[in-house]
Amino acid sequence: MKQYRIAAIPGDGIGKEVIAAGIEVLNALAGRNGQFGFSFDHFDWGSDYYKAHGVMMPEDGRERIRDHDAIYFGAVGAPDVPDHITLWGLRLAICQPFDQYANVRPTRVLPGITSPLRHVSGPELDWVIVRENSEGEYSGVGGRVHRGLPEEVATDVSMMTRTGVARIIRYAFELARARPRKLLTVVTKSNAQRHAMVMWDEIAAEVARDFPDVTWDKMLVDAMTMRMVMKPGSLDTIVATNLHADILSDLAAALAGSLGIAPTANINPERRFPSMFEPIHGSAFDITGKGIANPVGTFWTACQMLEHLGEPAAAARLMRAVERVTADPTLHTPDLGGQATTRQVTDAVIAAIQGDNE
Ligand code: IPM
Ligand code: MG
Repeated sequence: MKQYRIAAIPGDGIGKEVIAAGIEVLNALAGRNGQFGFSFDHFDWGSDYYKAHGVMMPEDGRERIRDHDAIYFGAVGAPDVPDHITLWGLRLAICQPFDQYANVRPTRVLPGITSPLRHVSGPELDWVIVRENSEGEYSGVGGRVHRGLPEEVATDVSMMTRTGVARIIRYAFELARARPRKLLTVVTKSNAQRHAMVMWDEIAAEVARDFPDVTWDKMLVDAMTMRMVMKPGSLDTIVATNLHADILSDLAAALAGSLGIAPTANINPERRFPSMFEPIHGSAFDITGKGIANPVGTFWTACQMLEHLGEPAAAARLMRAVERVTADPTLHTPDLGGQATTRQVTDAVIAAIQGDNE
């Protein structure tokens, strides 16, 4: 029997609650399938670790997880630790050295969930956003001098390399090709940002030649926000820079009904390093410890993890179970306007897995 080794990093806030739920669901799925199992190694890295040790994760942290088959990640961020420390100290400290350059964010209006868009009932909104995950506005290049003086200068330089742009655009074309509509939208801001964004457009046109079966178009990011709201059905696969896609993916999650549902995968497509799977929502300290966090984003990202591990049938079974549960409004957590608890949603998904005979 195949045994997958998963590094579980629940992190902060509700990250701990949703990862615990996700592990239960994955174990139930493995039990139902019988062909594979999981062994989870737990890492207590995050803001509590930072308060005790002065770092978000130990110096050899990456060494300890680099031979795992995947990383299952909760959330980082704490009210009393600056966000740039938690982010760069843990999440980006894993994503960047592990070259997880493709951040994949599926968005769909699941059964039983109401989109804030009046005219959208489901199938019209079925997107995958591919976010460049290693450079651009998040490259970390920049600095600050003359602190506190009137002459103070601060820069965050958006780095774009031909290699980095070409590989993410190629990844997006391949993903678009694998989806039924074979439709890709390349998002830039090449009217205002006349160097790197023009290079994006050029590289997109070059890569497109290898994908004659994929229909593609270009959008400026500002106009893209309007199109997502006004004509959601005209979009399928979307590729954008790190920051642009960060913003668009929050909009996408809101249009699909709740940030509590949205999943994300940080993929190293070459598989030289483990990939990392997490819900998009953050640590949500306002509801931490109340047992009402929505675990659906964490379950959906587990589907992405199963697909990455080469278990598409198990991924499909888990997605069916999740959709059966979202279809029932009595199983909606408060972020969806319901009263269900994390426990109830988790139990219902496990029951749906066990009752699934497809
Ligand atoms: C996301 C988040 C992060 C990001 C935050 C927590 C830094 O918004 O995953 O989209 O900007 O990458
Ligand atoms: Mg974001």
